Amino acid sequence: MERLREILKTSVRPTVLDVGTGQGFFIKTLLEYLSSYEFIIGIDTKEEVLAKAREIHKNDRIKFISMDGENIHFEDNSMDIVCISNTLHHLPNKKKVLMEMKRVLKTNGFFIVNEMFCDNQSQKQLSHVQLHHLQGELDTLLDICHNKTFTMQQLTDIVEDIDLKIERIFEYNTSEEQAGETKPDEEVQMLDECFAALEIKLEKIKGFPEYGKYEAILNELKKELYNVGFFTASELMIVCKK
Ligand SMILES: C[S@@+](CC[C@H](N)C(=O)[O-])C[C@H]1O[C@@H](n2cnc3c(N)ncnc32)[C@H](O)[C@@H]1O
Repeated sequence: MERLREILKTSVRPTVLDVGTGQGFFIKTLLEYLSSYEFIIGIDTKEEVLAKAREIHKNDRIKFISMDGENIHFEDNSMDIVCISNTLHHLPNKKKVLMEMKRVLKTNGFFIVNEMFCDNQSQKQLSHVQLHHLQGELDTLLDICHNKTFTMQQLTDIVEDIDLKIERIFEYNTSEEQAGETKPDEEVQMLDECFAALEIKLEKIKGFPEYGKYEAILNELKKELYNVGFFTASELMIVCKK
């Protein structure tokens, strides 16, 4: 991730917009690598996650606003950096959101796409991908847009489709990086947490005709994945310029 610092160091006191900010997780990452900033704004459509983000980031120059990425209320060419992290696969109309982000970005500004992907993952990382996709299927039944994660190629195609110049592209959080750092009991803990979250989702579809099918899938995965193990999926960082 030092690569991000190297790229961002040319941006002096930038104005920053993070779309689909959630609890501001990616803003936390940016703060590690930006040497300065004028202001950072995180937008999201869910007020409950924004409330949590405001509790986490108590800083006058970091603001969280309820706003739809499909209709961003900022002027054309007003931001030095726009970012979107782990949100693309949650969007019913991703091109509209990306075009809005491009509109508010200044010429030569940085457009950062950070996203987990589904291919080129190790066996342990595929546990994460599989469980994440299952979560997506349950969300879909609950009318929440949550598609499968993209392949690396699909992610670069998405960026090229809106006519951005790719400056740097790299994957991080690889299996090799985690192998030296993650202990077996941490893998078990991460699996426990994923299964607990999925149990909660499953409860929400009780009474749906699909309930039995997903209960069986979840039980099968519980038997299988504790033997396989668990690493979090590698992510792709694509840094572009307008
Ligand atoms: C998985 S979270 C990602 C949070 C954060 N960016 C991260 O990297 O951890 C996806 C977020 O996108 C938000 N979202 C979905 N559709 C949106 C839209 N049209 N405009 C703004 N935010 C949206 C969701 O509410 C959710 O908080």
